[in-house]
Amino acid sequence: MKGELIAKLNDRSAVIGIAGLGYVGLPLMLRYTEMGYRVLGIDVDEGKVEKLNNGKTYIEYISDDKIATAVRAGFEATTDFSRAGEVDSLILCVPTPLDEHLEPDLSFVLDTIEMLIPYMRPGQVVSLESTTYPGTTDEELKPRIESTGLKVGENVFLVYSPEREDPGNPDFCTRTIPKVCGGVTVACGEVGQALYGQVIDDVVPVSSTRAAEMVKLLENIHRAVNIGLVNEMKLVADKMDIDIFEVIRAAATKPFGFVPYYPGPGLGGHCIPIDPFYLTWKAKEYGVRTRFIELAGEINRSMPGYVISRTIDVLNSQKKALNGSRVLVLGLAYKKDVDDSRESPSAELLELLKAKGAYIDYSDPHIPEFPKKRDYEFDLKSVELTSANLKSYDCVILATDHSSFDYDLIKKHASLIVDTRGVYKEDKSQVFRA
Ligand SMILES: NC(=O)c1ccc[n+]([C@@H]2O[C@H](COP(=O)([O-])OP(=O)(O)OC[C@H]3O[C@@H](n4cnc5c(N)ncnc54)[C@H](O)[C@@H]3O)[C@@H](O)[C@H]2O)c1
Repeated sequence: MKGELIAKLNDRSAVIGIAGLGYVGLPLMLRYTEMGYRVLGIDVDEGKVEKLNNGKTYIEYISDDKIATAVRAGFEATTDFSRAGEVDSLILCVPTPLDEHLEPDLSFVLDTIEMLIPYMRPGQVVSLESTTYPGTTDEELKPRIESTGLKVGENVFLVYSPEREDPGNPDFCTRTIPKVCGGVTVACGEVGQALYGQVIDDVVPVSSTRAAEMVKLLENIHRAVNIGLVNEMKLVADKMDIDIFEVIRAAATKPFGFVPYYPGPGLGGHCIPIDPFYLTWKAKEYGVRTRFIELAGEINRSMPGYVISRTIDVLNSQKKALNGSRVLVLGLAYKKDVDDSRESPSAELLELLKAKGAYIDYSDPHIPEFPKKRDYEFDLKSVELTSANLKSYDCVILATDHSSFDYDLIKKHASLIVDTRGVYKEDKSQVFRA
């Protein structure tokens, strides 16, 4: 069974099933179709499925053209989970958020596997790509799959292979980003290697699914902790009237032993604010407290509040109160040049400003309307950056340093700028770091 599946994966006659056609699943689908595999995408979102089958994208940096080419090459999307028996691989790319108590919410992963298993058959490989705590694959997925009579490592194979992505970064693509993969058994690991070996240049095997799960968490915790550190350095530097961005730029000239991380208005995106707490939660089961993670989380979560207190000070210096002031937040995306506003600190900035009585607006060329969110609801549309518009605000907060913003125009016409990204290198009279 193993040999047959590996042969099909290697000669690309295997049909690839991907459950969850989001930021992770969609680029993976494109890569498999590009290499000649037939791909069946399974998603619960009927709107997305219809769009994709009509050759249309819903993610800014993936073009309609790419989706249409994939459809012509045999890609099909469906909401019909009973078709899971048609595929040789089931790659799960569904969300793993936190619940309201900051604890892992595995419901998407568990719902997906529960919906798939009635249709699973011998000779398939299941790969979990969603970020999660060590133990998810062998404690949660393996028993569910085996409850149907299938035997993991013998007639069905199970691996964990975390996704790595840097949206908007032109230097890497799915093919060139090395992919870590660990199997529940040695045979599972071999099948995992074949599953990814044709589409990824460098597959990095590890000894278990738990090791692979921990790799992803280490990578993201490394970022969260280091961003927490530079955010703390920023608080100190601001008090000392030192430009932290100048300091980081100079420190980064050290050719060894220093990696630059940059402060900002808070953490954003689907991964860094969330993933570390998957480990915090699981570590408690082993009696270990993850103090670095919690401290970094505390500092990073305090940053939007810090930006608002700086905004209050800045307005105060002009004899103005935040209450009643008109404030424009520049950038709703969590990082530059993308249309992704998940967990973006800009939403919290807007919320805090509104709570203090400010009249709020935002401008983001990548996000024309404030999207539907679980925690925030604003009936706002992106404001065009014209000289008249800029002049009409008491203060603008630069939250996301999109390349397409006209920074000269902003500086010329905004009366006060709170710069959280270190865009304005020399401190002009109306620019304040935060
Ligand atoms: N976006 C990133 O940059 C990134 C990077 C690395 C890892 N990850 C991880 O990958 C996973 C997926 O993230 P994403 O950004 O692609 O999420 P996403 O929200 O963009 O996409 C998830 C997709 O899954 C679908 N879905 C939800 N429930 C489903 C179900 N029961 N069955 C089938 N489909 C279902 C949704 O409709 C959506 O299309 C998460 O665990 C995330 O932490 C994301």
